[in-house]
Amino acid sequence: MPYKYRGSSGSDAGTPKQQHAALRRAERGAAASGKERLDEMIRPSKRMKEFMTYAFAEVDKAKSSAQAEGYRIIDFGVGDPTEPLYDGAVRALQRGASEHSRSGYPSYIGMPRFRQAAAGWLKKRFSVEADPDTQITSTAGSKEAIFHFPFAILDPGESVLMPSIGYPPYRGGTVFAGGIPEYYQLKEENGFLPDLAEIERKISANSGIRMIWINYPNNPTTAMATDAFYKGLIELTQKYGVVIASDEAYTEMYVDKKPRSVLEFSDDWSNIIVFQSLSKRSNATGLRVGFAAGGKDLISYYRKLRTQLDSGVANAVQEAAIAALGDEGHVQEMRALYDEKRKLLTAALDTAGIRYWADSTFYVWAKIHGSSIDFSKRMLTLDREKKVGINVTPGSMLALGDAPNADGYVRFALVPHVDEVRLAAELMRAKLG
Ligand SMILES: Cc1ncc(COP(=O)(O)O)c(C=O)c1O
Repeated sequence: MPYKYRGSSGSDAGTPKQQHAALRRAERGAAASGKERLDEMIRPSKRMKEFMTYAFAEVDKAKSSAQAEGYRIIDFGVGDPTEPLYDGAVRALQRGASEHSRSGYPSYIGMPRFRQAAAGWLKKRFSVEADPDTQITSTAGSKEAIFHFPFAILDPGESVLMPSIGYPPYRGGTVFAGGIPEYYQLKEENGFLPDLAEIERKISANSGIRMIWINYPNNPTTAMATDAFYKGLIELTQKYGVVIASDEAYTEMYVDKKPRSVLEFSDDWSNIIVFQSLSKRSNATGLRVGFAAGGKDLISYYRKLRTQLDSGVANAVQEAAIAALGDEGHVQEMRALYDEKRKLLTAALDTAGIRYWADSTFYVWAKIHGSSIDFSKRMLTLDREKKVGINVTPGSMLALGDAPNADGYVRFALVPHVDEVRLAAELMRAKLG
């Protein structure tokens, strides 16, 4: 009998190459050799396979070929700050490495001083009182926490609502936890906020929805949540018993109006958890540190999960985070720098007659004509004489699920050096205007 590997539940197991080989063999009625068996066993899980098609592949290919032709690319693609980590955090990291040289494994939930610093910052910034003992826990940056949190509360087959264009780990974490992603649309006519009536319809039609992801200030649309939205969402989710997971990684990246936290809108946090990060406010993407704050039970479930996952955030890194949370000057400077870049880029978009949103975060969300992939490819070779191109992220690449409107937009991350942003703005004025 032809060999069928363990765990295979059909022809979709294994990579396409493996499936093809198994099919040919079955047709011949041949048994697998030892080598073939081994080749077939070394395969990604079915869930993993879902995530193996790289969304940016097409644009990356165009970028590589432009570079191979000698183009200099000004990169507005990935939202990774290029400015250095706040120097106070660098010093604290260095001191921390010596001070904690014998500390062993760090705490799963963060040092008490780290949690107190986070609570102090929440109080100063949002006027909320979070108990560092029970309502705050350290995270290894927010990506890890966003991906893993569903594992702590979701049973297989239950659903999570998430924005249809958004940060990929909302979907990844849900799927790997055995859950089902359900999407809501972020529409221009609704200020890129979820339509609460649409959310209520979805929640009332599906009692399996356990949680909703929200993200304000929003990547990629730059929208900020209104007070009415937060109040309405809390009322709705408390009525139906749904968890609000609020990704607040960009609360410190604003233009003039300070974004608020969902924590400010209810004294009852039993169904609310917020994910904060040092990454953007302190150029600390390389440190991997943040914290979650919210309802005691939700925090305790996530803490328990972390004991199974990893061994906490390095103490020296927590020291760096404590230093960064205690200083607002560097964050102010960062905002000023992004303001300068934002003004340069948006002035060029104005000249080119391209509509855009640039209300917060360090992104600019621009509405283009035609397909976002075609636009992005064209931008890569924008100035053919000077051989300078611009890399932007096509909206369709940011779609997590069904997102009919995403293809009409592209995202600029304001991360290149200000001189490069100036040059990109000049090119856009000349070539798109
Ligand atoms: C919306 C959003 N949330 C969370 C993150 C995660 O950031 P980190 O893991 O560095 O805290 C990012 C990173 O780009 C993001 O865009």
